[in-house]
Amino acid sequence: MTTLAYPPPLDDGVVRVRPWHDGDLRCVEQASQDPTIPLGTTVPARYTEEEGRAYLARQHARLTSGQGISLAIACLDTDEAVGHINLMTRPQRGVAGIGYWVVPAARRQGVAPRAIALLTAWGLGAGGFARVEAWVDPDNHASQRVLELCGYLLEGRLRSFLTFGGRRTDVLVYSRVTADAGR
Ligand SMILES: CC(C)(COP(=O)(O)OP(=O)(O)OC[C@H]1O[C@@H](n2cnc3c(N)ncnc32)[C@H](O)[C@@H]1OP(=O)(O)O)[C@@H](O)C(=O)NCCC(=O)NCCS
Repeated sequence: MTTLAYPPPLDDGVVRVRPWHDGDLRCVEQASQDPTIPLGTTVPARYTEEEGRAYLARQHARLTSGQGISLAIACLDTDEAVGHINLMTRPQRGVAGIGYWVVPAARRQGVAPRAIALLTAWGLGAGGFARVEAWVDPDNHASQRVLELCGYLLEGRLRSFLTFGGRRTDVLVYSRVTADAGR
């Protein structure tokens, strides 16, 4: 049985995964300026402070509504938020979908792999999930690479599964399950 609650702040000595707070608006603003992030998320494509605050409120509302756990990825030394990571509950008991983004200025520094490793380990451990899966656009090679780095297995391809950026797209399905521990 999975009970939704925020994990304690998780860190690996470089990044911290923690709940969003009011000081994180700059991160939402930076994400809104990326051409890709607003297409597949609720990050506003046109940032205003009001839209930014609404985004932060939506992240906390996901926990209370049971939709999932939505957290900021922050630099451990400054606590500056540089990305987002979530575990969204799927209809199947014990299954979560993982999603993530990193602001352009913080990319190519291993931030996403660190955060995914932290939240996956928590999700399949204390978080009580049996399976964490990711749905990835076949053209998104960076996302596929970070999942492989985090020990996710490619299971297959679902055809015409999602609408992304106004077009139908296939998705690649990756997963990590409790039996993978240590792999
Ligand atoms: C995908 C994303 C989260 C990656 O975050 P990141 O912290 O920059 O990840 P890094 O680049 O540090 O990731 C590590 C690996 O991906 C590789 N990588 C990064 N960009 C790549 C690209 N365009 N093509 C192939 N590999 C790429 C890196 O070389 C690195 O692999 P290595 O250690 O073997 O060299 C980030 O690019 C992003 O936010 N993209 C927009 C939102 C998005 O696509 N989210 C995922 C939706 S499923």
